[in-house]
Amino acid sequence: MTIDLGAMVLRRPVDDDAPDGLLLCTDPEVAQWNAVPDVVDLESALAWCRRGADWSDGRHTTWHAADGTTGRLLANCSLYAIDPEDRTARIGYRVAPWARGAGVARTVVDAVTRWGFDELGLVRVQLDHTVANVASCHVAQASGFVLEGILRSSYVDGSGVRHDDHVHGRLVTDRAPALPRPRMSAG
Ligand SMILES: CC(C)(COP(=O)(O)OP(=O)(O)OC[C@H]1O[C@@H](n2cnc3c(N)ncnc32)[C@H](O)[C@@H]1OP(=O)(O)O)[C@@H](O)C(=O)NCCC(=O)NCCS
Repeated sequence: MTIDLGAMVLRRPVDDDAPDGLLLCTDPEVAQWNAVPDVVDLESALAWCRRGADWSDGRHTTWHAADGTTGRLLANCSLYAIDPEDRTARIGYRVAPWARGAGVARTVVDAVTRWGFDELGLVRVQLDHTVANVASCHVAQASGFVLEGILRSSYVDGSGVRHDDHVHGRLVTDRAPALPRPRMSAG
């Protein structure tokens, strides 16, 4: 299953993503804001890719964005906590350091959310981020997630510091954002 975004392709994680997955998961900003503490070496990165590729429990669909030309891993994005009865899910994301600042996150978050509405019949997707993570707030708003409130002292970052979280939500009935194409080499 793939979503073709032109300059990027969204697909399930594959084993070959493991070396770049290790670099992504051990990046300091990822460690601070969306840590993957069990990825510490190539073997654990491979296991992380395989967990992401296994959607059989119905609770998550994890996607990797790959460069449409080179195939290199650019980002990881999961619809998780999928509740088929309430038709809700949450979304989380991490962009590789070499792909940041080009519009990758907002493009991926929008595409995965729309896929969840269309293919899973979701009605609501929730996106939480630490208030201090300003870039993530830009991503949320650009990809159509309305700021709904603050969860006080709800997130403990990679250094053990507690933070308030912003809660954003996007409903299937919300107007979809008009996004510019990501600024990538393959155009
Ligand atoms: C946050 C993150 C996902 C952004 O990915 P990205 O592909 O660079 O995001 P985009 O290019 O789509 O958009 C980034 C936006 O944040 C802005 N931004 C980037 N760094 C910023 C900073 N330090 N302060 C303020 N704004 C910032 C950019 O200008 C852009 O805003 P704009 O579209 O209004 O110009 C990425 O940096 C990342 O993976 N960080 C570590 C993990 C993480 O924070 N995950 C999210 C947890 S909720």
